[in-house]
Amino acid sequence: MERLDGKRIIVTGGTSGMGEGVVRAFPALGAKVVFWGRNEAAGAKIAAETGAHFIKADVADKAIVDAAMKESVEYLGGVDVLIHAAGVAPHCPAEQITAESWYTTLNINATGTFLVNEAVFPYMKENGGNIINFTSASAFIVSPGQAHYAASKGAVNSWSRTIAKEWMPYNIRVNMIAPCIKTPMYMQMRAMMTPEQLAAHDASMAQLCIGGQMGDMETDFVPLMAFMASDGSKFITGQTISVDGGIMMVR
Ligand SMILES: NC(=O)c1ccc[n+]([C@@H]2O[C@H](COP(=O)([O-])OP(=O)(O)OC[C@H]3O[C@@H](n4cnc5c(N)ncnc54)[C@H](O)[C@@H]3O)[C@@H](O)[C@H]2O)c1
Repeated sequence: MERLDGKRIIVTGGTSGMGEGVVRAFPALGAKVVFWGRNEAAGAKIAAETGAHFIKADVADKAIVDAAMKESVEYLGGVDVLIHAAGVAPHCPAEQITAESWYTTLNINATGTFLVNEAVFPYMKENGGNIINFTSASAFIVSPGQAHYAASKGAVNSWSRTIAKEWMPYNIRVNMIAPCIKTPMYMQMRAMMTPEQLAAHDASMAQLCIGGQMGDMETDFVPLMAFMASDGSKFITGQTISVDGGIMMVR
């Protein structure tokens, strides 16, 4: 796995799932890590176990995001990498999506990405940087029951590719991860499916990807993230990197 010695890394959504996965793995690779989350108890526990620094922050609130970014950069003495993993993944038939659920999903996933990326930009403008956002296969291939989620990740795609071009002169690169990894979010999504949907999902997974199931955090996800956070990936920008066992082969 790539070493990350001296890298100053900010991780959102760091108290569970893939965010937590990198927060737990990266300090041992030499990185200095600040992570954000909403769950203070989980944040304190992970901080104590990893040595990473926790900041309570809701990514959908501009004032909170700006303050958390300032505190993060001050703590790290600068920032090299932003891993923006915070997000929600509701599951609901399109005709039953409420306006409230639509606003919440777009607010957290799309606006949250905008706010966090905008907040880090001034700190990366002088010396360059590396932004890693999270999209989803749902935004590329049709995933019934996730129309609002797909729309929010479609916004993340367009936003990320545009800023990858606009911020290129500042040596800021912007990529997206399209994961299929076993996390609490995935388990919640499974819990929201009807028995028929679940059976169909499991049957399709068996056909769709290497191993027939979602990927593993430590062996499938963390090594990719170590590469993406390292200088080994410094000539990659504006790309969607799928870590999904081959589920999505559209680009
Ligand atoms: N698990 C997968 O296979 C998968 C597939 C496609 C996309 N993704 C994307 O990957 C990212 C990480 O997902 P995960 O599976 O690790 O999920 P997860 O639910 O385990 O973690 C997401 C984290 O984001 C946090 N969060 C949600 N709303 C927030 C807010 N307003 N402010 C701050 N934090 C907030 C949650 O509390 C949680 O800690 C998400 O953007 C998700 O959409 C995941």
